[in-house]
Amino acid sequence: MAKECSFSLSQACKVIGETWGEIQPQACLVCGSGWGGVVKGLSPVSSIPYENIEGLQKTTINGHSGKLWLAEPDGVKILIFQGRRHFYEGEGWAPVIFPALLAHELGARTLLLTNASGGIRSDLKSGDFMILSDHLNFMGSNPFIGPVPHPSITRFPDQSVIYDASLRKKIYQAGVATGQNLTEGVYLALSGPAFETPAEIQLFAKLGATAVGMSTVPEAMVANALGLQVGAISCISNLAAGRSPSPLSHAEVAHTSQKALPKMTQLLAQLLPALAV
Ligand code: HPA
Repeated sequence: MAKECSFSLSQACKVIGETWGEIQPQACLVCGSGWGGVVKGLSPVSSIPYENIEGLQKTTINGHSGKLWLAEPDGVKILIFQGRRHFYEGEGWAPVIFPALLAHELGARTLLLTNASGGIRSDLKSGDFMILSDHLNFMGSNPFIGPVPHPSITRFPDQSVIYDASLRKKIYQAGVATGQNLTEGVYLALSGPAFETPAEIQLFAKLGATAVGMSTVPEAMVANALGLQVGAISCISNLAAGRSPSPLSHAEVAHTSQKALPKMTQLLAQLLPALAV
């Protein structure tokens, strides 16, 4: 059992065991901004409120409901984190990376992350889905600073390949099967919570960023260092600052996610059963 994590993985596993018995989920799914609604379409079994698990606590952001779900689409066990913590909430890395540590502790092979982002590349439209091929960590910090978060993580983790190629292919194929043509791109993560300036977005475009957001990267880094297969899907919820005709707002992000919810649900319902070994 990991000692270095400042939240107790054993407490989380105890609550999970008391609720669902000995489960080894095939995959864990983290639902980002507005994606909590996908649970309904993924054959949910039952849920545990985040309040019951010390490491998950209550989310503070509108659109992040705060429940841990067991779902069984096509009989495949999936654990769904309905709501995520962000670095900008100011409580450090521990709550942000806890889902990745818990996924590993429960023996999941795969961590699938979802988010909403601002589109930088000129062909992107609001509502498009992007598979992450790589990322740029501009959060101004690194989740491995301080004591290693898990005994199996080395001091200097290799991050050459974070987003697993075979999983990227499976996500793309699930898109094809559900009539969606998913693009791929590089996600640039900032701490937020302020949106960017147009000058920052122009710079990020020159640096090779396809889309910009405030999440996903820390969980992906930690899960990768723990040996999990990592995949991430971003919904372009708005055009990035300076590319959008209107001011940016969380309401627009939530509105686009809401509109794209049926598409995201179809995609995940197709993809998740395909993650069974
Ligand atoms: N910038 C940063 N984060 C975001 C955005 C954005 O434009 N849209 C959704 N999350």
